[in-house]
Amino acid sequence: EKAGFDHFMLKEIYEQPKAYRDTMGARIDAAASKVVLPEIGMTPEQIRSIRQVHIVACGTAYHAGLVGKSVIEHLARIPVETDVASEYRYRSPIITPETLVIVVSQSGETADTLAALREAKRCGARVVAITNVVGSSVAREADDVIVTWAGPEIAVASTKAYTSQLIGFYLFGLYLAQTLGTAEATYIEEVLRGLRELPEKVERILEQSEAIKEVAEQISTHHSLFFIGRGLDYAVALEGSLKLKEISYIHSEAYAAGELKHGTLALIEEGIPVIALATQDALFEKTVSNIKEVKARGAQVFGIHMEGDTELAKAVDEVFAIPQTHPLLAPALTVVPLQLLSYYASLALGHDVDKPRNLAKSVTVE
Ligand code: F6R
Repeated sequence: EKAGFDHFMLKEIYEQPKAYRDTMGARIDAAASKVVLPEIGMTPEQIRSIRQVHIVACGTAYHAGLVGKSVIEHLARIPVETDVASEYRYRSPIITPETLVIVVSQSGETADTLAALREAKRCGARVVAITNVVGSSVAREADDVIVTWAGPEIAVASTKAYTSQLIGFYLFGLYLAQTLGTAEATYIEEVLRGLRELPEKVERILEQSEAIKEVAEQISTHHSLFFIGRGLDYAVALEGSLKLKEISYIHSEAYAAGELKHGTLALIEEGIPVIALATQDALFEKTVSNIKEVKARGAQVFGIHMEGDTELAKAVDEVFAIPQTHPLLAPALTVVPLQLLSYYASLALGHDVDKPRNLAKSVTVE
């Protein structure tokens, strides 16, 4: 059932082009250049009454929610907060009937996420769920459900569920923008075109897995490393770092690149690997100057950028290029080399990739 792959995780990484296509499916009307989401039962009037959005989830799903925050704020111009579910209820969040709460859960059974959903409903908020399991508790209790059609995810480390959650956020963000008129039609068209091209671009990244494997093998000899990036690259850095810790047991930290000099730079010493993501045009130069700060202290920097850029290679030791895409969509590509990186690092260290120690696929205790 691993279909010729050595591990479920690798199989699931390779299933992502299909998961993207299935999750977009009939939800994109290419001819009309719009998103259709019949599963969202909100009337345009109800959508217009949303004053704030809360995204609540755990772990990798929370990281998808961080991308979701940028996407919704950018496209729909509604303020969004993203919270870890185990913290959300205890900070007495301000939830009103004008709050839209989005819960994100692969399994749809995570206890903290479910409890957050119930609290949101108790306060009169409408709840949209992004989940991979039709008929899960989260799916049953939410008002509207966007199913991510990633198919069953067996490996404990989430890969295709995360990227399908990103697709869910892109679709929902565009849907809100269409209804609210917060984005130009030509802009929506451009993002939609970018979305439809993603599966093929993921395939192109997967064809270069050997290059990532070599970097993973170098990294596997280290005890500690950093992931840095700004904006959406920072959100993906957090996910890359979690994935690496989870299955390779190598300690890593994700840092907003501009924040390093406020303390963490003290940990940068000769030879420490730093994975630097620099796909966001508007933040590129700033990120490069942060890369120079770590390089000057002896870090070994592996950079991820977009094809067409010729600058990053000059500042780092090695680069990996993702195919060009709309900056908003970059996370759906940049995370793929990071998934492969953690997979091959875990493999090089001889760990049980699919069943890392101390972890369960579905966390049903709070
Ligand atoms: C990490 C991972 C976990 C889950 C988290 C939430 O790879 O899989 O961090 O993302 O436990 O699980 P769901 O999405 O099922 O609510």
